[in-house]
Amino acid sequence: MITPEQERAFYDRQYAQFLAMPDHALRMDRAVLLGNMSNPEHPFFERRRLYRAAMVELEAEPLAGKRVLDYGCGPADFGLWMAAESAEVTLLDLSPLAIELGLKRAQASGVARRVKGVAADAAKLDMFADGAFDLVFACASLHHTMKYPGALEELARVMRPGARLVLCETWGGNRPLNAARRWRARRQGEEEEQGEAIILAEAEIELLRRHFGELRVHQLSLLAMGKRLLRGRFRSAWARAAVMALEATDRVALATCPPLRAWCGEAVITARR
Ligand SMILES: C[S@@+](CC[C@H](N)C(=O)[O-])C[C@H]1O[C@@H](n2cnc3c(N)ncnc32)[C@H](O)[C@@H]1O
Repeated sequence: MITPEQERAFYDRQYAQFLAMPDHALRMDRAVLLGNMSNPEHPFFERRRLYRAAMVELEAEPLAGKRVLDYGCGPADFGLWMAAESAEVTLLDLSPLAIELGLKRAQASGVARRVKGVAADAAKLDMFADGAFDLVFACASLHHTMKYPGALEELARVMRPGARLVLCETWGGNRPLNAARRWRARRQGEEEEQGEAIILAEAEIELLRRHFGELRVHQLSLLAMGKRLLRGRFRSAWARAAVMALEATDRVALATCPPLRAWCGEAVITARR
C-alpha cells in the first residue's frame, strides 16, 4: 500500500503546474464552474452530470454563513464556488501545493477573506475542534483517505451533530466495470495513487453507517460510463452525440428498472452526522 508521503508527492507534482497560471485562469465562481462543466474541452465535461447532482445536494440548504470543509480539496473548485456563495470555507488537503493553489485561487476570485487552508493528513485533524463544521464536501477524495486508520473517526469528530456530508465519488458496485477500470489503469501505466483500485462501494457505505445517519446513495451513469473510452475526444461532435445518446438511454433504463442503479459507475452520497 502507498504511504501518505508517496501520495503527497504524487499530488504535489499534479498541482505544481497550475500555480504558474495567471489570475484570470484561476478565478472560480458559479458561472465559471457551470461553464467548465458545459465546455467539452474542459476535464469537467466528462463528469458534468455527477458534479451537477453534487451541486444540487450542496445547495439543498443555504450555503451563506455555513462552515464548510472542502475535504481533500485538490484545486478546490467546489470549495471556492461555495465561498463565492458566502460560505466560510476551509480547504484541507495532504498536498501543501493544493492548499497554496487553493489560497491563490481564493485571492484571484475575491473570496480570500472567507477561505482558510490547512495542509494535513485527514487521519489527524487535531487543528480542528470537535463539531467545527456544518457541511463537509469530499469530491473524489474519501476513497483516498478511508484507507488511513482513523480518518473516518476524525471526519465524524469535526462535524457538528446534524452537519451534512456530501460525497461525489466513483461507484464500485459493478464488478465487470471495476475490472475494466483496473485494466485501463494498468494499460495506461497510471500510478497507484490515482486510486482506480480504491473505489467506494457497499462495504465502504457500511463503514460510513457507523458514524452517519440518513445515508443516501444516488448512483448515476450506467451505459454512460462508456464516456471513459472517449476521454479527450469530446470536442468532436460525434463523441458528444455518443455520450448524450448513452445518457438518454440511461435515463430510460434507470427510470424503468431502478435496481440497475447498483451497477452505475458514479454516485453522490449524502449523510448526516
Ligand atoms: C483525486 S484528488 C481529488 C481532488 C479534488 N477534490 C477534486 O475533485 O478535484 C484526491 C485528493 O485527496 C487528497 N488526499 C489524499 N490522501 C489524503 C489524506 N490522507 N489527507 C488529506 N488529503 C488527502 C490528495 O492530495 C488529492 O488532492
